[in-house]
Amino acid sequence: TVEFSLRPRFLREYIGQSRVKENLEVYIEAAKQRNESLDHVLLYGPPGLGKTTLSHIIANEMGVQVRTTSGPAIERPGDLAAILTNLQAGDLLFIDEIHRLNRSVEEVLYPAMEDFALDIVIGKGPSARSVRLDLAPFTLVGATTRAGSLSSPLRDRFGVVSRLEYYSADDLELIVSRSADLLGVRIQEDGAEEIACRARGTPRVANRLLKRVRDFVEVTGDGVITADSARSALRRIQVDRLGLDEVDHKLLRSIMDLFRGGPVGLETIAATIGEESHTVEDVYEPYLMQIGFLQRTSRGRVVTSRCYQHFGVEMPGT
Ligand code: ADE
Repeated sequence: TVEFSLRPRFLREYIGQSRVKENLEVYIEAAKQRNESLDHVLLYGPPGLGKTTLSHIIANEMGVQVRTTSGPAIERPGDLAAILTNLQAGDLLFIDEIHRLNRSVEEVLYPAMEDFALDIVIGKGPSARSVRLDLAPFTLVGATTRAGSLSSPLRDRFGVVSRLEYYSADDLELIVSRSADLLGVRIQEDGAEEIACRARGTPRVANRLLKRVRDFVEVTGDGVITADSARSALRRIQVDRLGLDEVDHKLLRSIMDLFRGGPVGLETIAATIGEESHTVEDVYEPYLMQIGFLQRTSRGRVVTSRCYQHFGVEMPGT
């Protein structure tokens, strides 16, 4: 798909996350020099920052194959055993949403990560015994939006733990320009800047906005993305100056208008705006907290004076 072709394939093409990138470069080089598989890597941070992309880059840099799955997709220990026994020496296994693995599956993973072994229990009751099956050495790359909900035995088995941060507007501008080149759409620097500023620190959002803006300039404009043409397209798809979309607006306005700015519980907010509480917590809230519009307190969510200012609404009690 087009989406996939926008993803960088090697570290040198990957923009931003410089600390993570520079350290990974060293670990990859060291593993290659020693002719070993790379130690297991845990990538965590908000959605859309490039965890999947990085796992593919690691595989490309190591010159190995990648096998992709996710926490919820591995239902039973046998499912994981099937995947592990099919890996070839050096392969990279990417498990997205690894915090959603269930306990019994996790227990299969421990000896696999630590000793490249699978412990299989044969029989039941007093005559049950366990045999150990050797696996090919592999690298596990786990991704999660919440490192906190990983059990500590699992977290401790990753030799490399890297946190991805929201991207700066400058880095996003470079990403937008690069993607525009790949898509073959003409873009001016201030057009890229306009999209970058509204991308919520997230390359996935930046690329999505770029594609929608391209649709508008190709159909209703002259095909060139300028600051003006970008701004008018973004207005039409209801993305505001800070990149907040309809759902962000609904979330913030409901706290302001229905709950006098909070505190209000997560479940109540989620029900009010008709989204899953996990989605609110993992997808929408992190950026709103990052820009200082929302706070999590022990009594619930609260919107800040900065949020009231953005909407031009007077804060209650001021
Ligand atoms: N596309 C999406 N994320 C990217 C990144 N970090 N660098 C370059 N291109 C990207």
